[in-house]
Amino acid sequence: MLEKLLQRAKDNPSLLSSPLTTIATYPTNGSSSVSARDMQNSSNVLDNKLANESPTTLCGESFNDTRLYIQDRPRQEWANLSTIYFVTPTYPRREQVPELTRLAYTLLHVPRLHWIVANDHNACNPYLDTLLNRFGIPYTHLASPMPQRFHKAESKPRGVANRRAAMQWLRQHNITTGVLYFGDDDNTYDLKLFSEIRDTKHVSMFPVGLIANYGISGPVVCKGKVIGFLDSWVAGRRWPVDMAGFAVSLSYMAEHPNASMPYKPGYEEDYFLRSIGLTLDMIEPKGSNCTEILVWHTQTKNHERTMVKLNHEYLDDRSNLGALFKALSDMGVSGASDSEGQKAIISKNGKSKPLGYFLS
Ligand SMILES: *[C@@H]1O[C@H](CO)[C@@H](O)[C@H](O)[C@H]1NC(C)=O
Repeated sequence: MLEKLLQRAKDNPSLLSSPLTTIATYPTNGSSSVSARDMQNSSNVLDNKLANESPTTLCGESFNDTRLYIQDRPRQEWANLSTIYFVTPTYPRREQVPELTRLAYTLLHVPRLHWIVANDHNACNPYLDTLLNRFGIPYTHLASPMPQRFHKAESKPRGVANRRAAMQWLRQHNITTGVLYFGDDDNTYDLKLFSEIRDTKHVSMFPVGLIANYGISGPVVCKGKVIGFLDSWVAGRRWPVDMAGFAVSLSYMAEHPNASMPYKPGYEEDYFLRSIGLTLDMIEPKGSNCTEILVWHTQTKNHERTMVKLNHEYLDDRSNLGALFKALSDMGVSGASDSEGQKAIISKNGKSKPLGYFLS
């Protein structure tokens, strides 16, 4: 949250001087409107850029739902529901595998869902692919790295390349039915959210808990209609909502071929919703007229990756240690080193012993 607030609080000079100036300058000049032509131009610029500079790799995919039962009902009973395309941007870090595992066990309860996991990485991560495959949820695993020119940016447009790659995938597959939802890997989702958004006609909205100073961000609803927004960071945003606070019908999105998302930290949601021509009266409030919180912006504390000092001669098949540290390394959690890191302590009966004591 802090990172996002910092991102949002600061105007980013490197972004302003980038080729995306048309879109990047808008909200900082205090104006609160942007012409349809501007939006269209920016979308075109963005799309052309994306195709060349940040190629997406398809790492793995499965359209088979191999779950036998979902919420105590056989899978076939859910066959007529519309599909939710759940787009999860993710990036390599110590917490990546645990977060995706936790999210997967939520999604396992959700019928008719296609999970698009887009990883901010140059190459496909086979460990991730095996993991995703194992859950039996239909999925698409993409490697969609953030363009190089943002790597040194003070506030990085994290997740944008990934969401754009997912939107491109939807376009390429000509998917014009179902519902699109952007679900980060570190949020908490109430299962009711999925039944609420599934019948989205155009754009549905709902409150997100644990956002910024108010602990909440979401629409203000009067007589069943959205009349404004409660969010502590306005900053000229017409749609001051969190990424997890809305869902879009794909048939509606298909009417807006310029739908896009800018590489502008803090303004991703606003510009995306502008790019699909959203108007206030179109919004469908969910969660009992936005009185329920069905999604939470929980965030895991990020820790640096660590090294454990452990001589490689002990990482063989005499014990579990070799396989365990291989897994930790594959998951990007920690690694073993002969010379670096905190010394591995193995103990028995309350006393630490050198590894040679156990493995000789
Ligand atoms: C939302 O509010 C409207 C108007 O008061 C009401 O008719 C409708 O039943 C409410 N919807 C829900 C799901 O509570």
